[in-house]
Formats: sequence, C-alpha cells, structure tokens
Amino acid sequence: MRLLVLGGTHFLGRHVVSAALDRGHEVATFTRGVSGAPPVGARSLTGDRDDPAALPAALDGWLPELVVDTSCQTRGAADHAAAALADVAGYAFVSSLNAYRNWPPGPIAGEQEPTWDSDEDSYGPVKAYAERVLGAALGERFLTARAGLIVGPHDPLYRLGWWLDRTAAGGRVVVPAEGLEQPIALVDARDLAGWLVEMAERGQGGPVNTTGPAGMTTLGGLLDTCREVTGGDAEWVPVPEADLLSAGVQEWTHLPLWLAAGTARTAWDVDTARARELGLPSRPVRDSVADTWAWMQTGDRPQPPAGRELPGLPPDLERRLLSSAG
Ligand SMILES: NC(=O)c1ccc[n+]([C@@H]2O[C@H](COP(=O)([O-])OP(=O)(O)OC[C@H]3O[C@@H](n4cnc5c(N)ncnc54)[C@H](OP(=O)(O)O)[C@@H]3O)[C@@H](O)[C@H]2O)c1
Repeated sequence: MRLLVLGGTHFLGRHVVSAALDRGHEVATFTRGVSGAPPVGARSLTGDRDDPAALPAALDGWLPELVVDTSCQTRGAADHAAAALADVAGYAFVSSLNAYRNWPPGPIAGEQEPTWDSDEDSYGPVKAYAERVLGAALGERFLTARAGLIVGPHDPLYRLGWWLDRTAAGGRVVVPAEGLEQPIALVDARDLAGWLVEMAERGQGGPVNTTGPAGMTTLGGLLDTCREVTGGDAEWVPVPEADLLSAGVQEWTHLPLWLAAGTARTAWDVDTARARELGLPSRPVRDSVADTWAWMQTGDRPQPPAGRELPGLPPDLERRLLSSAG
C-alpha cells in the first residue's frame, strides 16, 4: 500500500520507514529536509508541516492509504495533517505518556486516564491536542501510541548513549543508590516501528501505552548490561539520593534515566496491558543495549535536535561526588 511517514529521517521514523519497506509498502516521507535523507527505497517529499499548504503541495496527487506520524510537535502540524489526510485507511500517531495530565508523576492505570486539555504550547498539552484533532478527523482509524522511553540505534537523545560511553570509559562511576532496584520499562524503536506499521495496516484505533512491560528490567539491571556490553571496568559508586540532590544533580538530565524515588515509583508504573494484547513486541534489553552500542561505534553519534543539550553528569560535579563518596 502507499504509506506516508510524517517524519522518517532521524530515529523512530527512520525505523518506521525500514519496517514499512520490509513489509512491501510503497513509502514516502515528508520532512523539511533538514535532518538528512530517509532510508534508501523511500521517496522523499519535502515541506514544513507547520505550513498548511506544504503537505498537499508535496503530495501532488500521490494519495497515501496509510500514515505513520512520528514528527508532530505543534498544534498547527496536527491541524494540517487532519485536513490533508482524513481519508486514509489507518493513521498511527506517535504521542507520549506526557499527554496524560498527571504524568509525571503518574501512575497510569490505563488509557482511560485524563489527558491535557489546556491551551499551553508545551509538549504534553500539544500531543493531547493533536490526539483530539486527528482522532476527530479519523475516528476508529486513528491510533495514538503514547510512548514511554524509546531506545535503540539512531537514538539522538544520548540518554542510554551517555551511560554506554560512561561505562565504557570505566573507573568509578556515580550511580543513584536508591535508584538501582527501581523497575523501569523501555521500548526499542525497532519494535515500536514495526508495530506502528502493522497497526496502520489493520486500521486499528484507540490510545495505547506503548512501552515495555513494567519491571522488564531495573535501572541497576540496565547499567549492568551497559557495563557488560561495553566491556569497561566500571565500578559502581552508589551515592544516596539526598547527596545527589543537594550537590545539584538534576534528575533525568545529569544522570539520564534516573528519577528520585518519590517520582520514580509512580512514573514507571504504567499499565501496558493493551499494548501487550495488541502484540507490541519487547525484545531483550540486552539486544537494544548491544545494538545501540554497535551503532555508536560506527561513528554515527547521537545528535540531539537543535536547542536540546546532550545529557550527562558534568565532570567537575562527578569529581566532587566521587571525592565525597571516599
Ligand atoms: N525519544 C523518546 O524517548 C520519546 C518518548 C516519547 C515520545 N516520543 C515521540 O516519538 C517521536 C519520535 O521522534 P523521532 O525524532 O524519533 O522521529 P523521526 O521521524 O525519526 O524524526 C523526526 C522527523 O521530523 C521531521 N520534522 C521535524 N520538524 C518538521 C516540520 N516542521 N515539518 C516537517 N517535518 C519535520 C524531521 O526531519 P527534518 O528535520 O528534515 O524536517 C525528522 O525526519 C516524536 O514524536 C516524540 O515526541 C519520543
């Protein structure tokens, strides 16, 4: 079928293109052409989805039957897609757990939990708005994937990437003492991508929390896997949460994937029963970690989108924490 990827040249979208080509679709991407070209085999259409005229002009009579939308970040982008693509047979949209009004900190008991309905132009409210507008245009043919933490090769955000580099460098590594046993969940971009294509093919509708099963690993388990995969001699130096916070360590940013215990307990508590019923795969964490590391060795390094800084513990802060830890 003719499958349009809104996005498709960076991370998740790139894997969607590959999955759709593997499944025999005729694939086109629609991007500004800033982030490079899509995988070979896809046709590249260019334009800015914030411009109402751009998508119809780029399609120029090529009528998609299926859409996977990985690039929606503004209200206008959602409005224009709803106007141009309401007739497709299946539309799989990539939203976020941030669309939920109470997440973080959560927990999220199921997809019926309330989403944002405010006018704020921030990430969660915009994703929730896009879900409403596209859902109204497409009805039962619209699926919204409320994604949690996405990992895998081509990840530009350098969260798992930072831990891989840090464990590969070895030596004494600051880790959050109370965080190590915290169950966490993640989804490999390749698992999510293939599933999104299948959901669009089926015309499957409704909201789905698209992350791995709760408890698939722990933060400590993930870090141990990073150490194993990189082969570094990293020695964990557990630092109590109170000391991390008082030293100015920022959750999620300075120590990627770490949240203070009070938030972590509920933020990682997300019901994914519907994703499991709908067959969202969850490959072994070790495979995601090893493949991300292999990709990082190709020289194709994580490059965050413009305006976003790379995460990680500043070296001077790390030195201070290690010397206080003795
Ligand atoms: N990473 C996570 O852990 C996580 C968690 C939850 C949800 N999400 C969501 O998952 C999605 C994944 O994004 P991704 O970066 O991996 O997708 P992607 O499709 O691989 O990359 C983003 C694409 O959007 C295009 N784009 C950006 N602005 C555009 C515009 N104004 N008009 C047209 N195209 C535009 C970019 O190309 P150009 O730059 O060339 O235009 C690029 O191809 C996002 O919607 C994100 O909100 C991510």
